[in-house]
Amino acid sequence: MAKKTGSEETVTYVDKSGKRLDGRKADELRKIKVEVGVIPRADGSAYVEWGQNKVLASVYGPRECLPKHLANPYKAIVRYTYRMAAFSVPDRKNPKPGRREIEISKVSGEALARAIFLERFPNTAIDVDVEILDSNAGTRVAALTAASVALADAGIPMRDLVAGIGVGKAGGHLLVDLNKAEEDAPDAVDIPMAILPNLGEVVLLQLDGLMTQKEWEESQKLAFQHVKKVYELQKEALKKKYAVEGNSGDMEAGARAAEEGVVE
Ligand code: CDP
Repeated sequence: MAKKTGSEETVTYVDKSGKRLDGRKADELRKIKVEVGVIPRADGSAYVEWGQNKVLASVYGPRECLPKHLANPYKAIVRYTYRMAAFSVPDRKNPKPGRREIEISKVSGEALARAIFLERFPNTAIDVDVEILDSNAGTRVAALTAASVALADAGIPMRDLVAGIGVGKAGGHLLVDLNKAEEDAPDAVDIPMAILPNLGEVVLLQLDGLMTQKEWEESQKLAFQHVKKVYELQKEALKKKYAVEGNSGDMEAGARAAEEGVVE
């Protein structure tokens, strides 16, 4: 796809037939898979594959907040830990948490906190731990998508699920769900977002790069439009598990029913 023009190399991010470097359309998400209850030791858990991204999320709590000086007598606190495995990136990552992981943990914890009825659990902590096992851009939104499903799996009451979505720009084209090659475009704009889909509330929005007001407005439309697909997959995965348990305990029958869309 790379063309040489003099000494410079130009990349076509969307070709004449409307295809991106990985064959997707401009507004097409990568393949997403959501599984619920994958970690038996945890109160709630989820696994998300989002293209090459692979994310495991666990939830413990609400439980007594220790150390006690961190406790809030009016509400639960959310402690969110985002970590990348050493083998999740092409250049082995030092297992020690870096500034990037600490920042992502902070903003993601704040995003999740917006969705939870924290005031129902004073003096408690909800620990959410997310491990990135493999990555190709968009891990923080995949992580939040997994984490909110894990919270639901733990039975924690929420105002809405938190669904992640990435939008942005590469090679002058507005794109949904940028991969690493697109995020590395010279004019790249990367906008990871997390949204409460039913309430229409944005709980995480970060932005790298420059775009016009028109592009911004269009990118936001794309985000709200496509986050619904992520939300549907989260719901489907939860229904699959709880329809199974709520029915006869016959896992196969429940899973089949969920796939056929007969479980409400
Ligand atoms: O993953 P996300 O898009 O949320 O975060 P980012 O900081 O924009 O990173 C984009 C991608 O860069 C990650 O998904 C990783 O694949 C890669 N990366 C890496 O190769 N080495 C790191 N130390 C951090 C990120």
